Amino acid sequence: MRVSIIVAVAKNGVIGRKNNLVWRLRDDMKFFSDTTRGHTVITGRKNYESIPEKYRPLPNRSNIVVTRNTDFVAPGSHVVHSLAAAMEYAADIGTAEAFIIGGGEIYRQALERLNVERVLLTHVNAEPEGDTFFELDSVATGWHRTSLGEFRADDRNEHGFEIVEYSRVDS
Ligand SMILES: NC(=O)c1ccc[n+]([C@@H]2O[C@H](COP(=O)([O-])OP(=O)(O)OC[C@H]3O[C@@H](n4cnc5c(N)ncnc54)[C@H](OP(=O)(O)O)[C@@H]3O)[C@@H](O)[C@H]2O)c1
Repeated sequence: MRVSIIVAVAKNGVIGRKNNLVWRLRDDMKFFSDTTRGHTVITGRKNYESIPEKYRPLPNRSNIVVTRNTDFVAPGSHVVHSLAAAMEYAADIGTAEAFIIGGGEIYRQALERLNVERVLLTHVNAEPEGDTFFELDSVATGWHRTSLGEFRADDRNEHGFEIVEYSRVDS
């Protein structure tokens, strides 16, 4: 099973603020939807709760929510209590590719503990204030960089951005 991270990061490493996103980037949302559709997504409980109720579980994907709370209920999603259990369940349901979709805590643990083969990283040309970060240096060395497209700021996208695929040089 391939494990990928998908994340949008500002120049200063910010990915969120007050359990919300800090921008409106419709073309990046579209990239996220197109890329993860038909696969399995793994989310931390906080990121899950940040998704408006009417949009969750994310449609046409198997959704796995990670929480330490054994009473947590997420209709239409599978709830697990560790990242290892998320991987196990994803493998059990025959997942070919599992996408780690955040937030900060889950990204950090995934990079430390899982064999993440690629990171789909949207570099956002902005430096917003925030309280949740992705360590950009974590994909600096030992990863092969391929640009997948650049977008300008316009009425669809609040900021310009570039989508980059980082894949492990040794994978
Ligand atoms: N820019 C982007 O691409 C992007 C993508 C996703 C999210 N975000 C942003 O990221 C922020 C949320 O990130 P966050 O770091 O605050 O939270 P998070 O990673 O979404 O969720 C953290 C929660 O996950 C559970 N958890 C974490 N590790 C666990 C483990 N090993 N075992 C069991 N449960 C575990 C815990 O839930 P319990 O407390 O329930 O035990 C923990 O409180 C929001 O602002 C969101 O908008 C940005």
